[in-house]
Amino acid sequence: MKSLHTTSLFAASLLACASTVALAQSQPWTDTSKPADQRAAAAVAAMTLDEKLGLVMGYTDPEQLVKEPDDIVSPAIKADVKANHIKGSAGYIAGIPRLGIPAQWQTDASIGVRVTGMERTALPSSLATAASFDPKVTEAGGIMIATEARASGFNVFLAGGGNLAREPRNGRNFEYTGEDPLLTGRMTGGLINGIQSQHMVSTMKHWAVNDQESQRTTVDATISKPAMRQSDLLAFEMIYDLSNPGSVMCSYNLLNGDWACENDYLNNRVLKQDWGFKGYVMSDWGAVHSSAKAANAGLDQFTGYPCCGHHGAFFSAKTLKADIENGAIPMSRIDDMAERILWPLFAKGVVDNPVKVGPIDFEADANVSQKAAEASLVLLKNAGNLLPLTGVKSIAMIGGHADKGVMAGGGSSGVTPVGGNAVPGLEPKTWPGPVVFMPSSPVEALKAAKPEATISYISGDNIKKAAALAKTSEVAIVFVTQWMGEGIDNPLELPGNQDALVAAVVKANPKTIVVVESGGAILMPWAGKVPAILEAFYPGARGGQAIASILTGKVNPSGHLPISFPASNAQLAHAEIPGFHKPDGIRVGITYDEGAAIGYKWYDVKGYKPLFAFGHGLSYTTFATSAPVATADGPNDVSVGGSVTNTGSVAGAAVMQVYISPDNWQAAGWEAPKRLVAFQKAELAPGQGQNFTAKVDPKLLATYDETTDSWVVKGGIYHVRLGQASDDLPQSVDITLPDSRWSAVH
Ligand code: GLC
Repeated sequence: MKSLHTTSLFAASLLACASTVALAQSQPWTDTSKPADQRAAAAVAAMTLDEKLGLVMGYTDPEQLVKEPDDIVSPAIKADVKANHIKGSAGYIAGIPRLGIPAQWQTDASIGVRVTGMERTALPSSLATAASFDPKVTEAGGIMIATEARASGFNVFLAGGGNLAREPRNGRNFEYTGEDPLLTGRMTGGLINGIQSQHMVSTMKHWAVNDQESQRTTVDATISKPAMRQSDLLAFEMIYDLSNPGSVMCSYNLLNGDWACENDYLNNRVLKQDWGFKGYVMSDWGAVHSSAKAANAGLDQFTGYPCCGHHGAFFSAKTLKADIENGAIPMSRIDDMAERILWPLFAKGVVDNPVKVGPIDFEADANVSQKAAEASLVLLKNAGNLLPLTGVKSIAMIGGHADKGVMAGGGSSGVTPVGGNAVPGLEPKTWPGPVVFMPSSPVEALKAAKPEATISYISGDNIKKAAALAKTSEVAIVFVTQWMGEGIDNPLELPGNQDALVAAVVKANPKTIVVVESGGAILMPWAGKVPAILEAFYPGARGGQAIASILTGKVNPSGHLPISFPASNAQLAHAEIPGFHKPDGIRVGITYDEGAAIGYKWYDVKGYKPLFAFGHGLSYTTFATSAPVATADGPNDVSVGGSVTNTGSVAGAAVMQVYISPDNWQAAGWEAPKRLVAFQKAELAPGQGQNFTAKVDPKLLATYDETTDSWVVKGGIYHVRLGQASDDLPQSVDITLPDSRWSAVH
């Protein structure tokens, strides 16, 4: 005889099952056994036009929104945004409770949750973690920031910065993952995978060729289709292949004369037709310049209204409705827009795993950030093995607010640190400021790590005093900083008198180490005189501890440069950036004649020797790589690899890099003599070796033919080279490839 309890449980589960079945029949999109695109189509089929348009319009800044005319933004929408937009966050799109469709709460960005007044955990900059050459690092980072985002009420992450560092002075290079398409594809792809594994939608941004910040909302980038397909778009294609982002954010700039958010070639032809993208294109905030043209050119969500000099009547539910009624936008396009927005909400588990505010384990999250930094910092120089600091009794630490914290970048990716800004009040205080220092002091961390040493800090404002302290210390460590922020490009020279400070300190004490906290590449006129240089980029919430761990040898540095460091401005592809440091809003154009020859490729074409090469990074141990191994059964079946051995006395991690060069790169139609085609990080104990093989993405062996929308490989001999940097490739083997061609359509 079943107990009453069991029977009632059984009855309850039957009832629940029956109601689920009933719901699945009445609302088939709730059936989790169905594929996401079917669920999206079923939900849209049940929607009114207003509900569809409610998905298409995205809002921000309720205080500004309420001032909009009621016929542009209805009172009901104003009330909803005012009630439900998370204050200080990027954006909000109302849900459809009638259909069980959740609201979309949007937060920035790739480095962590950025909400004014909300203290959250910052990863190292994306350029920093790219230097780890380990997608597991960026994936772990994506998981961490996504758990913080969901615990803060967000289900859409405006992350996945993947613009190539075409322009080393680009003020947002710190938000991106360097100059190479494969590295960017794997590192940014790792971040997006981490984020989306937590039932969030991530963007991939900024689509596309948004490669300078000067005049970012008006600059017209001109580049040939093959060149962009083999560079900027190849990077995004690799991110897309590896992470399937739910959304793509089109950028502010024009591309070949058309605004990116109404660029049919980018959004319809490449992204949706060639690549088969099933998610949605959202605009950058204020990057919309039309209603019908944008919608028909592939824009799916008009986001961030009324931010950033909005265009008023250009886009709103009213204008879209009018364009539907006058036939400028087919109803089928509106349905497609709504379905594309819903697809990732189902596919990434947002609908089935509703976001809910909850506690955050900041200690655990800070540890994730510190581990990421420790895997990323790049030891650029270490003459005489000055590092690690063992047995040193007195250390002068100079400049860079090292007694307080470590620098972070500004703009929409700027995270307010737990514990607050360690150095408040620095200029610029307003957008894209404030200038934030993470409260993680290298001085305090080094003191904790080396209690036996006498460690003195001085600001470096008075160069004479700093040099005097250096002179009386065994070792001097100078911290130099270069602040970068959204909307601004930077000269490569360090600001202020930092170069003079370094020169004076190393003159006073030859045992000088320079720690660089920069957004990207910088010029180092003192590099020849300074025995040790550690590139920390923006090292994140626990950057001070990470720097100390590496300086003391607790952690063996294993970062490698994701971006070339020029020896001088003369090595840059463009002497000037159009509109550089001019007031915003000037219509400028830039033609990228270098094409796909970005970074090390440019240096190879020009025969330049950079100060530090792409892929460069030292260790406290030594590694030896074997001859490369390569097999080729046609361009679509090329595998490369080899092995590396730790030939030193301490454990460390090597980064094996494989580059391929056609025997005649011009005849093969390549943009440059060599391309990175594979890389692998390997943690090795002394004496330990590790093999690796990797399949080469055939697009990395090809050129793009726009007349046939296909990839083409020129038959012939190709040299496969294995090493530990783009300028350290000791051995090579040859493979022979046949002529080949295949469609660019996925
Ligand atoms: C900004 C940025 C973009 C960000 C968005 C929302 O202008 O370009 O990266 O996600 O607006 O803050």
